[in-house]
Order: sequence, then structure tokens, then C-alpha cells
Amino acid sequence: MRKVLKWMLMVLGALVGLVIVAVAAVYFLTNLRFNEKYDIPVERVAVSADPAVIVQGKHIVESRGCADCHGENLAGGAVIEDPMIGYLYALNLTSGKGGHGAYATEADYVRAIRHGVGASGKPLRLMPAEEYYYLSDADLGAVISYLKTLPPVDNEPPRTRIGPLGRFLFLTGQIDLLSAEVIDHNAPRPVAPPPGVTAEYGKYLSVGCTGCHGKGFSGGKIPGTPPDWPPAANLTPSGNLAKWTEGDFLTTLRTGLTPEGKQLNSDYMPWKNFGKMTEDELKATWMFLKTLPAKEAGTR
Ligand code: HEC
Ligand code: HEC
Repeated sequence: MRKVLKWMLMVLGALVGLVIVAVAAVYFLTNLRFNEKYDIPVERVAVSADPAVIVQGKHIVESRGCADCHGENLAGGAVIEDPMIGYLYALNLTSGKGGHGAYATEADYVRAIRHGVGASGKPLRLMPAEEYYYLSDADLGAVISYLKTLPPVDNEPPRTRIGPLGRFLFLTGQIDLLSAEVIDHNAPRPVAPPPGVTAEYGKYLSVGCTGCHGKGFSGGKIPGTPPDWPPAANLTPSGNLAKWTEGDFLTTLRTGLTPEGKQLNSDYMPWKNFGKMTEDELKATWMFLKTLPAKEAGTR
């Protein structure tokens, strides 16, 4: 009996040891990537005090969902607070105490918003620069021009810490945490289409849909979301939108109410942001969705 017990304790000890080694390895490997330094060429964009430019910047910030993470007043706050996934905080973009705007140079803004890299050269976590990478120089310049006019708010969000499950999901490629790793920082800048009611411009406006609806817009389970989240809808012509008119689409994005009478929850489908697009922008988005190849739902 003694022998069996001793043997069992040894197996248990070995198992615990293995788990400790595995967790240590996960922390070691993720820290290497979190602490990597990026030395990237930062493009210059024109920043201006022209009121028309500032209005355009405010429009982009509002319709592209910066407030979703950075808060209504853009002074930062919690995005995820979970002991297993981690504690992730969006930073204060104003020039108040604890705010980015207090020290940021124009290059710091471009590096953060377009490349997902902080002023220290380390990659920003969860900041979806991968989507904002496509903003034209004029649009990014307008965003920065607007951010510089924000009234200062004192708020110092706690330091972001990624938990063991968050690290594991990141390491196994199940969630994207570092846009900086995905962006090709040295590639020639993509050419942004001129604004207009065109499918090309609609595509430019729809980059922000892909994080949830998938690069092919066929929807499905959104990576990294809790199990109770609904899957994103299939927006390709084989999905429900085939039955909709342009008017149905505009109403849905402005009110969250679909023609089938379903009220979309803005916590899952951020229609409150996207609904702030102008009529022409929404029409261009609809035009683009119509040009998509039909895909089976959930094939991303
Ligand atoms: C999905 C959530 C999310 C959205 C949407 C988002 N951000 Fe962020 N952003 C973050 C997080 C989180 C950080 C901090 C990352 C870190 O600490 O590693 C951050 C960091 C930044 C920084 C760097 C601040 C600093 O002090 O280094 C800037 C600038 C910024 N965001 C601007 C924007 C703008 C402009 C938009 C909209 C066009 C936007 N963000 C949209 C989550 C988000
Ligand atoms: C943060 C994730 C997220 C983003 C970003 C997002 N969506 Fe959604 N969307 C969803 C989810 C989740 C649903 C399904 C909601 C439900 O079933 O309750 C949905 C549903 C929809 C629907 C309703 C479809 C139907 O058949 O009822 C439309 C239309 C839609 N999204 C369009 C868009 C467009 C256009 C964009 C970009 C401009 C976008 N979404 C960006 C998550 C998102």
C-alpha cells in the first residue's frame, strides 16, 4: 500500500512539474513577442487645424468605433477584465493626466494607429491597427488633427496584463493580439480609393467589419469571444442580406432593427458606430457587399 501511495505521489509530482514547465514556456514565448522592438519607418501625414478636417476626423473616429474601446470621451478604460484571458485597458488619448496626447508626437500617432506599435517600439496589444492601416493619409491626418483637439481628461488606466488563457489562445493562433505582427510595415502603402458611392470605396469603409464577419464576410464564430456570443452574420449574397434592399440595410445599420424585426444588440454588432456613416458611405458599403462572392456561412 505504502509503495502504491509513493508511486502515485511521484506521478502527481511529475504532472504538476510538467504543468509548471508548460505554463512557464507559454509565458516565456509570449513575453518574447510582447517585448519585441519594432523599428519601423513612419510615414508623415498632414495634420491641420482646419475645422473641416477636424470634423472629418471626428466623423472617422465615431464611425470606426474608437470609442468602443477608448470610451465615449476617448480617455481610455477596460476592454476585457477576466482573470484567465487578462486585464486589457485601452489608453487615454486625450492630453489629460495619464493621456497619450500629453506627450505624443505626430509620429507616435501614426506608429500607433497605422502600425500598432507604441512609442517604446513595443507592439500594442488588442489595438486593431491592422484595420486602420488602410486609412488614407488624408483620413489618418484628419483623425490625428481631431484627437489633438480633444478636451483633456485625467485618467490613468491600469497596466494591461495578459492572463494564462489569453496567452495560450494567442500562442496557438486562436486570437489576434498584436496587429504589429500581422502588418507588413515595409510594404508600399495601399492606394485608398477616392470617396464616392462606389464598391471600391465601400470596400475601404468595410475593413472594420472583417474582424467579426471574417475576411470573406461569411461570418461565424468570432475568434476569442466567449461562448455566449452570437456568431457574426453571413453578409455575402448567399446569406440573409440577399433578401434585403439597400433601404433595409441603411435602416438596420442606423437603428439596429433588421427587416425581419430583430433588434441587434450593439454590444455584439456595433451598429451605433457604423450607423454614423453618412448615407453615401452606407450606400457604398452596401454596393460593395453586393459584389462579394457568395460564401458558405462561417467559412470566414
Ligand atoms: C478593440 C479595441 C480598440 C479599438 C477599436 C481602438 N483601440 Fe486604440 N488601443 C486599444 C488598446 C487596448 C490600446 C493599448 C494597447 C497596449 O497597452 O498595449 C490602444 C492604444 C492606442 C494608442 C496608443 C496610445 C499610447 O499611449 O501609446 C492610440 C494612439 C490609439 N489606440 C488610437 C486609436 C484610434 C484613433 C482608434 C480608432 C480609429 C482606436 N485606437 C481604436 C484598443 C482599441
Ligand atoms: C464587433 C463585431 C462586429 C463588427 C465589427 C461588425 N459586426 Fe455586423 N454583426 C456582428 C454580429 C455578432 C452579428 C449577429 C448579431 C445577432 O445575431 O444578434 C452581426 C450582424 C450584422 C447584420 C445583420 C445580419 C442579419 O442577417 O440580420 C448586418 C447587416 C451586419 N452585421 C453588418 C455589418 C457591417 C456592414 C459591418 C461593418 C461596417 C459590421 N457588421 C461589423 C458583429 C459585428
